[in-house]
Amino acid sequence: MTSPAAGSDIHVVILAAGQGTRMKSALPKVLHPVAGRPMLDHVLRTAAAISPATTTLVVGHQAEAVRRHLRERPDVAFVVQEPQLGTAHAVQQTESVLAGRTGTVVLLSGDVPLLRPATLQRLLGAHRAANAAATVVTAIVERPYGYGRIVRTNGRIARIVEERDASPAQRRVREINSGIYAFDLAPLFDALRTIAARNAQGEYYLTDLVAIYRRRKRPVETLLVDDPAEIRGVNSRTELAEVSAIMRQTKNEELMAAGVTLIDPATTYIDPDVQIGQDTVIHPGVVIQGQTRIGAACEIHACVRIADAQLADRVTIHNFCLIIGARVAAGASIGPFAHLRPETEVGEAAKVGNFVELKKTTLGAGSKANHLSYLGDATIGPNVNVGAGTITCNYDGQKKYQTVIEEGAFIGSDTQLVAPVRIGKGAYVAAGSSITEDVPPGALGIARGRQTNVEGWVERRKKTATENT
Ligand code: UD1
Ligand code: CA
Repeated sequence: MTSPAAGSDIHVVILAAGQGTRMKSALPKVLHPVAGRPMLDHVLRTAAAISPATTTLVVGHQAEAVRRHLRERPDVAFVVQEPQLGTAHAVQQTESVLAGRTGTVVLLSGDVPLLRPATLQRLLGAHRAANAAATVVTAIVERPYGYGRIVRTNGRIARIVEERDASPAQRRVREINSGIYAFDLAPLFDALRTIAARNAQGEYYLTDLVAIYRRRKRPVETLLVDDPAEIRGVNSRTELAEVSAIMRQTKNEELMAAGVTLIDPATTYIDPDVQIGQDTVIHPGVVIQGQTRIGAACEIHACVRIADAQLADRVTIHNFCLIIGARVAAGASIGPFAHLRPETEVGEAAKVGNFVELKKTTLGAGSKANHLSYLGDATIGPNVNVGAGTITCNYDGQKKYQTVIEEGAFIGSDTQLVAPVRIGKGAYVAAGSSITEDVPPGALGIARGRQTNVEGWVERRKKTATENT
């Protein structure tokens, strides 16, 4: 939880009441993930960078779902806008939270997830330096269609004209309104009350404030962003994919600048919070998600997904592995085709080979489980050899049970360890055993049918077969 910043006079308002019709989704638009995190969470994080005294979210369509998503954010106030009569009407709803306060309102949109904290800092700087009533973040774009246009007289912003209300000459203006602003709180709510819905959409336009303040001779400023990609809004699944690609590319570039090799950035998907050390090499088709931390000089081969995991230095992940919520110590080697599930810990220089699944299992330093195994709810000491096809039978249909394999034990191939069971230090288990009782340290556990060889059986069988035809 971020607590309100003491002494801050910045109040963030985020608009998120619109329907998002073009997403064609049961999920509210602002909860659609961009690079693994809901759009709205990106916006809230950016907002946190300016340490607001209050943060208010204007919700409307699917208000309950948005509220549920933020149930652990008591620092975010909600106001419901119902019906949605336009952006000015949306801001008016925040009067219940902001009345009686002074300072600056920073207005953000819940569907503009790429906005950078540095841009908000610049916005506040420009707004304060000019002592402005309003400062509008603008961008110059190739295709201004659909955006409000910045209309200037003598170089100064005079008003904002929406696409549908614009003249052909105004439509040619390429400087657009980002929908992000700073407002002086003192005159804001009185000014909003003077806005009428006399326009093509019959809505109360927040953008009308510019002309209102200019008429009242109050200073209105603009802040032009260098990179228009930053203020891109998401209205459709296509724009969602475009914005996600931009965010991914930014992350990939950061990592490469910090000394990580990405063999093919275009097919490498790394969430913003992931940390990766120097000289780690990431091959194509790798997806690294959530709060994953990867050390230095690791190699992650193609087609691997890692989520919320921790890899120390010099770890190798071979092709086609799935690693979720696991920890892997330095120098360990995993895969190909391995599955590490949550609460798994692989020790230093340990090896997990192909078609091996580990769940809630500790595999000690230098231990090996190289082929075709399921190891669940097991504590395996150092320098243990787990033979091919070993299975921990950890579940009786109702409860899960623990398997313990002590240091230096050797588990022969195709062994079932029926938990709860303990294999003592240095003990051996014969291949093909079904172990149901503890094996003491240093002992051999053998639990399988004895072999008998029937001499001459094949010849005799052939003979009976010919006699019967
Ligand atoms: C708005 C601006 C336009 C700007 C564009 C940037 C106005 C009148 N126009 O247009 O100048 O170029 O944003 O993207 O402000 N919302 C509410 N309640 C409402 C209406 C909207 O909360 O009643 C929210 C939406 O959920 C969205 C934001 O306000 O987050 C912008 O609304 P939207 O309808 O997308 O505005 P545009 O028409 O794109
Ligand atoms: Ca609209």
